[in-house]
Amino acid sequence: MREKVLENLSRYNLKDLSVAVLGSHSALQILKGAKEEGLRTILVVTEKLKPLYDEFSNLVDRFICVREFADVLNLERELLRENAIFVPHGSTVEYVGAERFRELNVPVFGNRDLMVWESSQKRKIMLLREAGIEVPREYSLEDQFEDLVIVKLPGAKGGKYFFVARSREEVLRRLRDYLSKGIVPDLEEVLIQKYIIGVPMYFHYFYSPLFDRVEILGIDIRYETNVDGLRRLPLRDVNVEPTFVVVGNLPVVIREKMLLKVLDYGKRFVRKTKEYIPPGAIGPFCLESIVVDDERIVVFEFSGRIVAGTNIYIGYGSPYGWLYWNEPMYMGKRIAREIKISAEMGHEALVKIVT
Ligand SMILES: Nc1ncnc2c1ncn2[C@@H]1O[C@H](COP(=O)(O)OP(=O)(O)OP(=O)(O)O)[C@@H](O)[C@H]1O
Ligand SMILES: [Mg+2]
Repeated sequence: MREKVLENLSRYNLKDLSVAVLGSHSALQILKGAKEEGLRTILVVTEKLKPLYDEFSNLVDRFICVREFADVLNLERELLRENAIFVPHGSTVEYVGAERFRELNVPVFGNRDLMVWESSQKRKIMLLREAGIEVPREYSLEDQFEDLVIVKLPGAKGGKYFFVARSREEVLRRLRDYLSKGIVPDLEEVLIQKYIIGVPMYFHYFYSPLFDRVEILGIDIRYETNVDGLRRLPLRDVNVEPTFVVVGNLPVVIREKMLLKVLDYGKRFVRKTKEYIPPGAIGPFCLESIVVDDERIVVFEFSGRIVAGTNIYIGYGSPYGWLYWNEPMYMGKRIAREIKISAEMGHEALVKIVT
């Protein structure tokens, strides 16, 4: 399959590349970044969301309307004709599916196998642990424990059906309750993690294969309902369960000395992905963490592609982006910059940034 993608890429006119993206998630900044870097843009969009992107039609050279996002798999010929580099994001994983997306014979910016890896919570944690990154303590259903834990059901989007419990008995009771309601968890894939109390920070990295450099481009705090709303009431007045559905993102910077650890984690992650999922991470990825104190950052999961939290830096870039580039640099623009520089260097360079 890789051969086929490379063969298609070898026929591309590198002076006339386009960036293609699904209209959702972080499309606006990917389009904006591509435009700023002088690349053509293609937006694959559904009827329902088209009105949103019509408002920003200055960013889109060509709209391709589809009934549903998975129809992008039928657009191979059109995308190849446009010399398109496809940039995946969270909605690509969610609506096309990482496995099916693997079959698209169009050059994809990033490592699509890493997105497949992402679909298993347990494998994700294993990769982090083996990279030497601190992860939350994990329990199995057989373990006898009394600890504050968060229980993650597989495939749960946005933390749906996640719950917090205090003991093995409570976990079993809740899972049985789910079973009786017809919500059938795959017990093999249920993840029981120690609930880490601290500040949730999501570190946005960009790994450049061209410069062999891990850049920390920004950090966000996700704002989740209702867990973040609970702090607005005195605890004694509320008797509700925390839920973890993301509704927004806030910018944040971390204490400067802690950047050393943040960078070390990023480099470890890239090294391990190169070993386990060759060619390894390419471009954006995110380590989703709880910062406990100035010594400890505990990572509870990762994303092997752009995360929506980077949207807060559209246009003006994050403080860290400025440090590397001496200009406003946000993730969408950074992606386009890597594509542009590779295209200028020629096919051999482009081969390093696509799968
Ligand atoms: N070990 C943990 N300790 C404390 N909070 C946690 C832990 N794991 C997850 N959370 C909280 O639960 C939220 C959702 O967890 P996680 O990201 O693992 O699930 P998800 O299915 O990937 O959800 P999403 O798709 O919204 O990212 C996190 O953003 C965080 O607020
Ligand atoms: Mg998550």
